Amino acid sequence: MSIQVAVNGYGTIGKRVADAVTLQPDMELVGVAKTRPNHEAELAVENRYPLYAAIEDRVELFADAGIDLAGTAAEMVAAADIVVDATPSGIGAENKSLYESHDTPALYQGGEDADLVDVSFNARGNFGAAADADHVRVVSCNTTGLSRLLAPLQEEYGVEKARVTLVRRGGDPSQTDRGPINDILPNPVGLPSHHGPDVNTIFPELSIDTLGLKVPATLMHTHSVNVTLGSTPAAEEVRDLLGEQSRTFMIPADSGIDGAGALKEFAMDRGRPRGDIWENCIWSKSVSMEGSDLYLFQAIHQESDVVPENVDAIRATLGTADAAESIRRTNETMGMDL
Ligand SMILES: NC(=O)c1ccc[n+]([C@@H]2O[C@H](COP(=O)([O-])OP(=O)(O)OC[C@H]3O[C@@H](n4cnc5c(N)ncnc54)[C@H](OP(=O)(O)O)[C@@H]3O)[C@@H](O)[C@H]2O)c1
Repeated sequence: MSIQVAVNGYGTIGKRVADAVTLQPDMELVGVAKTRPNHEAELAVENRYPLYAAIEDRVELFADAGIDLAGTAAEMVAAADIVVDATPSGIGAENKSLYESHDTPALYQGGEDADLVDVSFNARGNFGAAADADHVRVVSCNTTGLSRLLAPLQEEYGVEKARVTLVRRGGDPSQTDRGPINDILPNPVGLPSHHGPDVNTIFPELSIDTLGLKVPATLMHTHSVNVTLGSTPAAEEVRDLLGEQSRTFMIPADSGIDGAGALKEFAMDRGRPRGDIWENCIWSKSVSMEGSDLYLFQAIHQESDVVPENVDAIRATLGTADAAESIRRTNETMGMDL
């Protein structure tokens, strides 16, 4: 019996998760829910994904737009073994009682508060912690990127202290109301940014300070990383360790990839759906050691790095595969080959 998965919220994250679920031989997409009949509703219909109305009294709007509905979100949840809630920040919390009333486990996204859920999740960091949980939060794009990086460093060398400056994109390409337009904002001005405490939801003992800035960019985030390790490996050794991880792309020194624009072009040239880059993109040349201090730059594609994590969180929560097996299956089916 394949796992019946519902996706509530069919936007930036939801549509990618829905596509990834359809690639999994052990999963079936029950459907996706939306509040209104826009171009994304039409996309769901074109993809033959059963479309449900997220808000009952908006059913008419879909009929007026000539879009057939499979039912309401409550019916979708009732038919599912698990729901992936990919609604905007804060709406997931409002939806929690719906999932509870159907006794359906739910995954939420990084925009929700950590205290909404039983456990926060990253496949490389704490896969086993989600077993049998009812409410699981797949951590944000930045926290996912940091968790993937810090997990192997912690295991191999120990982490004395991580210090990360996150240069964050102002908004996603489709978010026309976001900014800044012509500025560079310390954001937040006070320390720490929320990312450090968020990493601690995955690694409670890890010592980490984070600072955030927002810049007029939409393509990716960039992290400037300094980690004081518990030993003094050579830079080459750290480069190899990071390269062995299955969700990292070590940008070759001679590739000519000098930023997010070139990374996105690279992904589109290789036929990645929507130009998505699910991996942490680490500039090989930046990986440097000064004593026990590691330095590097990595870029994170905010719209897609959490997608494989959601797929793994489904198996982790329902206990249908262990970490290694789930990650292998997800990577293989999605074509994570960078
Ligand atoms: N985008 C990123 O960079 C990113 C990265 C990692 C994590 N996240 C997190 O992922 C979550 C979703 O973000 P997103 O970027 O995918 O947002 P988004 O692009 O705005 O998509 C959310 C979708 O949910 C729909 N929606 C709104 N209210 C709803 C409701 N009550 N029930 C069902 N659907 C509803 C909206 O579409 P309609 O109103 O048209 O139906 C919208 O398309 C947030 O927690 C966010 O913090 C985002």
